[in-house]
Amino acid sequence: TQMRSIVQNMPKAELHIHIEGSLEPELIFALAQRNGVKLAYQSVEELRAAYAFTNLQSFLDIYYAGASVLLKEQDFYDMTMAYLQRAKADHVRHAEIFFDPQTHTARGVPMADVINGIHRAATEGPISAKLILCFLRHLSEEDALATLEAALPFREQFIGVGLDSSEVGHPPEKFARVFARARDLGLHLVAHAGEEGPPAYIETAVDLLKVERVDHGVRCLEDPALTRRLAALRMPLTVCPLSNTKLRVFDQMKDHNLLDLLDAGLVAMVNSDDPAYFGGYMNDNFVAVFDALPLGLAHAHQLARNSFEASFLPAQEKQKYL
Ligand code: ADE
Ligand code: ZN
Repeated sequence: TQMRSIVQNMPKAELHIHIEGSLEPELIFALAQRNGVKLAYQSVEELRAAYAFTNLQSFLDIYYAGASVLLKEQDFYDMTMAYLQRAKADHVRHAEIFFDPQTHTARGVPMADVINGIHRAATEGPISAKLILCFLRHLSEEDALATLEAALPFREQFIGVGLDSSEVGHPPEKFARVFARARDLGLHLVAHAGEEGPPAYIETAVDLLKVERVDHGVRCLEDPALTRRLAALRMPLTVCPLSNTKLRVFDQMKDHNLLDLLDAGLVAMVNSDDPAYFGGYMNDNFVAVFDALPLGLAHAHQLARNSFEASFLPAQEKQKYL
């Protein structure tokens, strides 16, 4: 349809992509072979067949297993370059890429190899790209603090910090000190909140962690006062439609609340989260929501505009897209 080609071809920014979630089964097997890593699956088909998730944790278990093939700087480079090339095909002009260093340093991979590999691809790649270091919230705040200190020799290679992994039971306030430290270092701050967790987690991410964007945030609509506040703050929500249906945050795409978020005046936009696991990259997400929800041309433009407004591009760069 005409709407489809408009959303596919329009320039956009991607602000919620976990680079380890862009690792396709074919690349997992190729890297396993290259590095002599033994996988629990016999084939690409068998691995793909295991991608039947019931909630966030059922996905995270497989996602961390997939990341176990990443050992060398070149592996991180190859993964990131593959993503950037794929994003360019979807007319993504700028990407702010999450990475999970603890997933790798816990296996003995040096921090230098993780950051240098991803960063080298981000500078050589076909589109603009910046990095955001995420802390795993199922681990302790001490572990997060040690991770931030270990990353400081590479301070110029990332622009911010985030918070991801298992949400329920690990509220933002658990990471108040490490976010305060990151803020002192001049880093941008974001956190996953209100994906599976309650609206109260969105509130503490904003008030205690002082985040500049909320990742997901879709459960904010359960709290009308919070929704009004987020709209007044122009607090961006990095929404991930295919992720939300695959992880059963919404049963079906027609149940997704993206249109309600926009109608509430929220700065929401579309992102892919973990495209290799959830059935698609940016344009697959756009096509899925535009097919399922009564969204039109004005919504398409609003989503693209919101993606650039919410980005951490310098004001002058941002202006070119607004
Ligand atoms: N890590 C990768 N994808 C994630 C998500 N959607 N929520 C929390 N942690 C994640
Ligand atoms: Zn995410």
